[in-house]
Amino acid sequence: MLKGKFPIDKFKELKTPFYYYDVDLLNETLQTIQAESGKYGYHVHFAIKANANPRLLSIIAAAGLGADCVSGGEVEAAIKAGFPAEKIVFAGVGKADWEINLGLDENIFCFNVESLAELRVINELAAAKNKVARVALRINPDVDAHTHAKITTGLKENKFGINLGLLNGVLDEMKAMSHVRLIGIHCHIGSQITDMSAFRNLAIRINEIQEELEKKGIQVENLNLGGGLGIDYYHPNHLSIPAFDNYFAVFHKLLDLRPGQQVHFEPGRSVVAQCGSLISRVLYVKEGEVKKFAILDAGFTDLIRPAMYDAYHRIENISSDNDVEVYDVVGPICESSDVFGKDVELNEVHRGDFIALRSAGAYGEVMASQYNCRQLPAAYFSDQL
Ligand code: LLP
Repeated sequence: MLKGKFPIDKFKELKTPFYYYDVDLLNETLQTIQAESGKYGYHVHFAIKANANPRLLSIIAAAGLGADCVSGGEVEAAIKAGFPAEKIVFAGVGKADWEINLGLDENIFCFNVESLAELRVINELAAAKNKVARVALRINPDVDAHTHAKITTGLKENKFGINLGLLNGVLDEMKAMSHVRLIGIHCHIGSQITDMSAFRNLAIRINEIQEELEKKGIQVENLNLGGGLGIDYYHPNHLSIPAFDNYFAVFHKLLDLRPGQQVHFEPGRSVVAQCGSLISRVLYVKEGEVKKFAILDAGFTDLIRPAMYDAYHRIENISSDNDVEVYDVVGPICESSDVFGKDVELNEVHRGDFIALRSAGAYGEVMASQYNCRQLPAAYFSDQL
């Protein structure tokens, strides 16, 4: 069984559970993104919601990406990590006044605006500072991402963005607002999208939206296509870098760009998922009547994706080459949903073995909680151990 390369001897000195980030893989992924997007002059903003670890952010900023933020805290984290304000975009359906003011004070590149109500507030707050806020309207394109219901965002029934049918009203009222300037349109249809036809449909829908806008005499300088590119959770060792070449090529082939128009993306998961693993120790092997359980010292407080979305993460016993046996791999938290995998084939497990939960670099550490008064997991980087 092919396993990831882990410095087990170094791990022995560390308290578990912790996140382990492979810096070489992260850098290789970032180089691939910059090379593939650079072919077409596209701008890539890392979606900080996927992972806000300060060291990881500073590596991503140093590679030249921008930042996509969804809260004032993320804007602060982006600036601290070295992302230049002119590469920061700020989305979210519920921006508080202080968060908008922070974006204005920092002169971020753009607010991705999700409703008329929000646009009015940005206009007012910018007026109070005698500024003009750059805004992109987040349009709900009603394109199905064919992904998990909890991470689909681009359908009419979702809370995100402005429905196409309401766009004209927003544009009409916007004409009278002197402290916002429309610089773009923004769409994000969902996450963990592996079916490229969803992105094809998005590109085609953007072309239609542009034509509609032009009928009203509006041409925007920027198109932001959001994030959403999926990764291969089943083969983290073979397919550790997502197919960014195919992804950007879809948009290059299908988008009808106007002269000088700039194209932006906001990938999160595809940038960082594969470089991160959650490392834990086996506390107990418990023989049940019908099942054998490997009880880990990591639980859903450290990685919530399996409990929350029924997400699959590949689980490896990185301490052993023994014959394979079948286990339910569970955590110590007092909830029956604290299960990382059922009927998982693992090399025979013993107390103290290291278990790696793979592809956990995105929406892992950043979603950790202290439920049950647990400590937050630590994080280590391959070049620092
Ligand atoms: N842009 C916007 C406006 C978003 O809402 C998101 C993700 C992204 C970009 C980045 O999408 P990505 O490239 O990572 O797919 N916690 C869930 C995923 C939630 C995604 C929310 N929005 C999970 O663990 O699967």
